[in-house]
Amino acid sequence: MAFGLLKQKKGIIFGALDENSIAWHVAERAHAEGAQIVLTNAPVALRMGEIQDLAKRINAELIPADATSEEDLNALLEQSMEIFGGKIDFILHSIGMSLNVRKKRDYTDIKYEWMAKTFDISAISFHKLMQGAYKMDAMNEWGSILALSYIAAQRTFPDYSEMAESKSLLESFARSFGYHWAKKNNVRVNTISQSPTMTTAGSGVKGFQEFFNYSDKMSPLGNASAETCAAYCVSMFSDLTKMVTMQNLYHDGGFSNMGMSPDVLDM
Ligand SMILES: NC(=O)c1ccc[n+]([C@@H]2O[C@H](COP(=O)([O-])OP(=O)(O)OC[C@H]3O[C@@H](n4cnc5c(N)ncnc54)[C@H](O)[C@@H]3O)[C@@H](O)[C@H]2O)c1
Repeated sequence: MAFGLLKQKKGIIFGALDENSIAWHVAERAHAEGAQIVLTNAPVALRMGEIQDLAKRINAELIPADATSEEDLNALLEQSMEIFGGKIDFILHSIGMSLNVRKKRDYTDIKYEWMAKTFDISAISFHKLMQGAYKMDAMNEWGSILALSYIAAQRTFPDYSEMAESKSLLESFARSFGYHWAKKNNVRVNTISQSPTMTTAGSGVKGFQEFFNYSDKMSPLGNASAETCAAYCVSMFSDLTKMVTMQNLYHDGGFSNMGMSPDVLDM
């Protein structure tokens, strides 16, 4: 069911790779709620083709941008404003990648060159995006900027490796830049800390299926799906959440406040 929550709103969505991607669901839901969307992803992801089908279906322009490149990000912002015929109402940063995890380097044997690249892709890109938009004055009054995070920013999940620090940095950027955006033109900046979700990025983590099941049992409402995450993102882009800013918002079926659940003993 759609409520027209994003009627007249225009936004950029990063990170839709395939139909499992959280950003894919956000794009579909935002479209259903009346938003005009620009989709973006790394050039290599665009070549895989699936995102082109999504773009067609939701009538969105597709603009390649490597989120680590300030030049690409600034071009994306400029082109999006041209397409929209004005400024931007919302942005979703849904980007995560760890080189050390992907190349199976243990946390106690990290290659720092890769770690720096991981931070750049997964967290510093968020600052670069916000700084570019800030300097360009690209956001409409009462706009909303959102990034996706994970509870490993606060608690230790050993196999999440350097992505834990990436998410801590990401959340910190949301708080710090959130202040400047609020003062500039009432734009809010938040992170949503999502349950484990079966996606390309998620399932790259060692033992993901077992962990997914554990988390599902620990959460009294169960793991939150990509679809429900999309609904939450849409509410954060809508005018119903104007005074929420500089927050890390858990969307995890209650996991973050659990100590022990008897359900896990039955596993
Ligand atoms: N899947 C989970 O369990 C889970 C849980 C909590 C938070 N998250 C977060 O949600 C976000 C989306 O991940 P997902 O699970 O939908 O997986 P996904 O693999 O579908 O999405 C990750 C996206 O990042 C993009 N990306 C990677 N490098 C990039 C670059 N240099 N420039 C631009 N884009 C780049 C990929 O192309 C991909 O579209 C990530 O921030 C992830 O950490 C995921």
